[in-house]
Amino acid sequence: MQHDKVLILDFGSQYTQLIARRVRELNIYSEIHPFNKIPKQLNDYKAVILSGSPMSVRSAEAFHPELKGIRGEKPLLAVCYGAQYLAHFSGGEVAESNTREYGRANLSFVEDDLFLENISLGSQVWMSHSDTIKTLPTKGKLLASTHDVKNAAYKIEDEQTYAIQFHPEVYHSTDGKQLLENFLVKIAKLNPDWTPNAFVGETVEGLQAKIGDDKVVLGLSGGVDSSVAAMLLHKAIGKNLYCIFVNNGLLRKNEFVDVLEQYKGMGLNVKGVDASARFLDALAGKSDPEEKRKAIGRVFIEVFDDEANQLDGVKWLAQGTIYPDVIESVSATGGPSAVIKSHHNVGGLPDFMKLKIVEPLRLLFKDEVRRVGASMGMDKALLGRHPFPGPGLAIRILGDITPEKVRILQEVDAVFINGLRDAGLYDKVWQAGAILLPVNSVGVMGDERTYEKCVALRAVESTDGMTADWVNLPYEFLQKTSNDIINKVKGVNRVVYDISSKPPATIEWE
Ligand code: XMP
Repeated sequence: MQHDKVLILDFGSQYTQLIARRVRELNIYSEIHPFNKIPKQLNDYKAVILSGSPMSVRSAEAFHPELKGIRGEKPLLAVCYGAQYLAHFSGGEVAESNTREYGRANLSFVEDDLFLENISLGSQVWMSHSDTIKTLPTKGKLLASTHDVKNAAYKIEDEQTYAIQFHPEVYHSTDGKQLLENFLVKIAKLNPDWTPNAFVGETVEGLQAKIGDDKVVLGLSGGVDSSVAAMLLHKAIGKNLYCIFVNNGLLRKNEFVDVLEQYKGMGLNVKGVDASARFLDALAGKSDPEEKRKAIGRVFIEVFDDEANQLDGVKWLAQGTIYPDVIESVSATGGPSAVIKSHHNVGGLPDFMKLKIVEPLRLLFKDEVRRVGASMGMDKALLGRHPFPGPGLAIRILGDITPEKVRILQEVDAVFINGLRDAGLYDKVWQAGAILLPVNSVGVMGDERTYEKCVALRAVESTDGMTADWVNLPYEFLQKTSNDIINKVKGVNRVVYDISSKPPATIEWE
């Protein structure tokens, strides 16, 4: 890749990914590496950023990065823990803070320095720390303060080293992007030329060089990642890309047919495989969520493998893996967190397929995947689709699964999702769906007593699915949706709306 790169050293802060994203929003490519696994090819990086951390520099276990070849030699920006680290171990002093230093603060002193150009007095910054820098390190020069935090920003004279106590990467730091631009473009002189178009051009060339005339197989899911990965490969190798779109019988209403048509319209060489019966057979009698996921994962691999084996001479398997999956497995704080639910489509297919793996989106965040898709002219509706889990409606039908329950839930879900679209609410929601509850309740329709199913509606706001909050949908919308569902979907007489946030709830009910 011919672009200037930024190295972000991660000390385990919850915001490290945000630093990478903010830098990339400036059209500058950045990579996250754990502080204790610094890449050997330091020459590849033109600037370095140290992240924050839950750790205290005063602790016996404090993280000590090896800054040889970095400090004093490359432009260096130290954020929060990074700033405290530079102070504490280079002649300054860090102590426990006696005022709370969380949340919003405003700059009350701003030095006239290129680092703070276009950032004025009063600018809002976001603090999140319990230690504070009492004394600056040797050759430290104060650059900014807030009311409670005197040493909010400093630089080291005779070096291109800058340090800030606040977090420029969170949106609450209103001039955070400006500050990163000052550091990366004005001070470090990086070229902001890493655009979606440039990414597409280079990725296509790279794929051509890597794959040559080989054949590649890819499983399309209808979601954004696999669709964009397919388009990139399609541009690179055309008909040598074989896409397989499996109907597991647990997709949304009409989705298999509609999405298959859409893929064909995009010129993709795609085969639709209707394996609904095989999946439903494997699920029969299973009500434990993890057992259901495992059964679906297993059948998916069998179906996919059968199809791939029918293709002659396929050498590569393409996957829509994105950057958060990659960095999660190398996190500074010990790798993936506890498994709450096993997401079967993360982690790939088993070795027995003997295919080499190609992952064209490995370096991108979700929003970047969407931008790359848009720059290739892909349909907005496809790029803006809500996330939908691999096991589909199977984990939204609580308990065991029957064809009749799938039918009911598909109908309910279609009323809800189409309603969101009609009301102009679809794009305001990050993910939405309906859940079929394993309870019947009493109702009255006409003069008849009914004893039918209850469904829950769920709509959440989120940025990455890790945390989420329920959406405050207008009462009128909920009222109409509930009426429509009960009137149109046979077998349902009660609708409830889920008002739980994640955590402590999860987005899916299973
Ligand atoms: P939870 O329910 O864990 O969901 O809060 C977070 C995000 O992950 C999706 N999800 C899955 N995706 N296979 C998937 O591909 C799964 O088994 C699975 N379970 C949950 C969920 O829809 C949400 O976007």
